[in-house]
Amino acid sequence: MAMRKAKVFAGIIVLILLPIVVHGISNEANLRPIIGILSQPGDPAPEGESYIAASYVKWLESAGARVVPIFYDMDAQDIERRFAVINGLLLPGGGATLEPGHRFYDTARYLVELALKANDNGDYFPVHGTCLGMETLSVIISSNYTLLGEFDAEDAPAPLLYTNEAAASHLLRSLPPDVVTDLQNKPIAMENHMNGGGLSMTAFLENPALGRFFRVVSLSLDKSGAAYISTLEGRNYPFTATQWHPEKNAYEWTPHLHIPHTTDAIRMSQEVANFFVAEARRNLHMAKNIIEEDELLIYNFKPVFTGKHEHEGEERDFEQSYFFKKISRGL
Ligand SMILES: *[C@@H]1O[C@H](CO)[C@@H](O)[C@H](O)[C@H]1NC(C)=O
Repeated sequence: MAMRKAKVFAGIIVLILLPIVVHGISNEANLRPIIGILSQPGDPAPEGESYIAASYVKWLESAGARVVPIFYDMDAQDIERRFAVINGLLLPGGGATLEPGHRFYDTARYLVELALKANDNGDYFPVHGTCLGMETLSVIISSNYTLLGEFDAEDAPAPLLYTNEAAASHLLRSLPPDVVTDLQNKPIAMENHMNGGGLSMTAFLENPALGRFFRVVSLSLDKSGAAYISTLEGRNYPFTATQWHPEKNAYEWTPHLHIPHTTDAIRMSQEVANFFVAEARRNLHMAKNIIEEDELLIYNFKPVFTGKHEHEGEERDFEQSYFFKKISRGL
């Protein structure tokens, strides 16, 4: 009898406390963050389709987020509908023409404009660009389509050379101190850019719009010793950009690249994901209801084992990829 009373009593206490707990947490953070990832055309997508490398999806999921794909060939209305649902935007790596009139660039720019406007209205909305994503952000902010330089940093993991401004970096202050030191002392940041990929300090200084918007957090050296900007972050906006690929350490395994898989590198990868997803918990964008959320999530698509070897010596960059049919042909 006493047991039963105790249980009832405990149940009442839980019922009283539950709304306080739930309410208290929801005041601080969005516990169901969703990140939008922009798809792009080109290899490994079949002709007429676009893709997202699954490593970006898994990387975000590892930090407690879910993913909504945003197709590069969507119209404005569909982009806006997704923007209302996502709590952060990831512009991934790859290769695309970064000029107006090219669909990938135009869609990326529209999303970035929506993110800038949201932040201007007091809505904390983070954007992260990786590799091509960083280049895309730089071109959008500078409106200079000949901004990028020639660097040879293909398959060239590198340490980060922190600048004087790194001391003010929100990203570095948010990462655990040992991860910040590891990034500086060990080549665990996976760099893989070449031919017209990369931003020099000279170009950064020649385009003052960049310096107004971004602080340079780190530089890195390519194979010939030339310095390129490896980490940028917004001065007044929660934007971060890395020329390096934090998603590859844990999720890409192609043997032809020297992706750092040490425990330090994996920890770094996870902590950068934790940082970005924590940023995304700071706004309350959400789907109208659970049915809309279901409809938009990437779970509607199956990743393909694109890294599978048909024979030895054949190497593909992405272990798994998602493919999306052209919008005009329907989904
Ligand atoms: C674009 O950036 C490059 C590299 O800094 C510079 O040489 C060029 O003058 C810039 N173009 C314009 C239109 O500002």
